[in-house]
Amino acid sequence: MADDFDPEDSAVTAQYLHSDGETDTGLRPTSLDDFIGQPRVREQLALVLRGAKLRGGTPDHVLLSGPPGLGKTSMAMIIATELGTALRITSGPALERAGDLAAMLSNLVEGDVLFIDEIHRMARPAEEMLYLAMEDFRVDVVVGKGPGATSIPLDIAPFTLVGATTRSGALTGPLRDRFGFTGHMDFYEPEELLRILQRSALILGVRIDHDAAAEVAGRSRGTPRIANRLLRRVRDFAEVRADGVITHPIAMAALEVYDVDALGLDRLDRAVLGALVRGFGGGPVGVSTLAVAVGEEAATVEEVCEPFLVRAGLVARTPRGRVATAAAWEHLGLVPPPDLVIGAIEVRGREPQQSLDLFD
Ligand SMILES: Nc1ncnc2c1ncn2[C@@H]1O[C@H](COP(=O)(O)OP(=O)(O)OP(=O)(O)O)[C@@H](O)[C@H]1O
Ligand SMILES: [Mg+2]
Repeated sequence: MADDFDPEDSAVTAQYLHSDGETDTGLRPTSLDDFIGQPRVREQLALVLRGAKLRGGTPDHVLLSGPPGLGKTSMAMIIATELGTALRITSGPALERAGDLAAMLSNLVEGDVLFIDEIHRMARPAEEMLYLAMEDFRVDVVVGKGPGATSIPLDIAPFTLVGATTRSGALTGPLRDRFGFTGHMDFYEPEELLRILQRSALILGVRIDHDAAAEVAGRSRGTPRIANRLLRRVRDFAEVRADGVITHPIAMAALEVYDVDALGLDRLDRAVLGALVRGFGGGPVGVSTLAVAVGEEAATVEEVCEPFLVRAGLVARTPRGRVATAAAWEHLGLVPPPDLVIGAIEVRGREPQQSLDLFD
């Protein structure tokens, strides 16, 4: 059971899965008006694009940051569509050598949108080339090697760079400063996910009633990609086990089969929570001990499960380790201990529990 974590096994991972296939693309919003949620980013971006249009120039470079599956790539495509220009797509890891970027830049046509996904993963030489390109629409191409090398300045067409990143903190200062506009994507409200689901159902030709869509929305972890994936899985269930219409009871039964509970936790999330509460009396306990208890690597528990458990208010990080909140006990159908205090005074009177002998 150890070390075999596969994100494809989980219906509620925010990462793109191969099983998402082409429908993920088909469900992308195609214009700013079509884009549900992110009202601030949408309004500000609309102004940036409109302003550029009025002036007849290219808009400022745009950085889109936020967790996976919230619509960064979709928004980049919308920017090009709204501007009526071409979109050139590449990604940080693909720009290993500065030459790769130089080739891309010199092929741009005036007004093009260059989209660099995962821009925080760009190699340093490419990044440095990008500074000049963003600022002056120029690149310095180095010809030759060693002391005899010369650099030839090359003009490139004015373009708009759209960068996307899940880790804006990993961006260097000079790169971040060169973006005129930064849009931060936040997790979606259940009501917004409900509307996204209704829109997706229409596109897919699926009938889903309001309560069923609200149920799926509530289990989607604030993430459209997860909402759309759950919709597809619930549709499969409805088609195989019923007449294809997604009613509330059908949605409930399907989500049970796919192991997605009322808060959007999957089996591994619940195992971690169960170990913390039942195995370690609610903590505090170190993440590696917790990982051993569920037979996973510490990195999986820390990077895959924990962020959502913390965001959902089920787990708190304290200096002495992870602690289950009252909501976690209640979610597992248990009564929280009376002395459970989390916050400034941590968990009073509770010593860190580091070993597995607590299991008996
Ligand atoms: N506002 C939205 N309205 C409708 N569907 C959306 C919206 N945002 C995202 N989606 C859906 O979620 C999927 C994921 O969105 P997208 O690929 O744009 O996310 P991302 O932020 O680029 O993710 P990643 O960080 O993994 O690259 C899209 O294919 C689309 O189906
Ligand atoms: Mg993306």
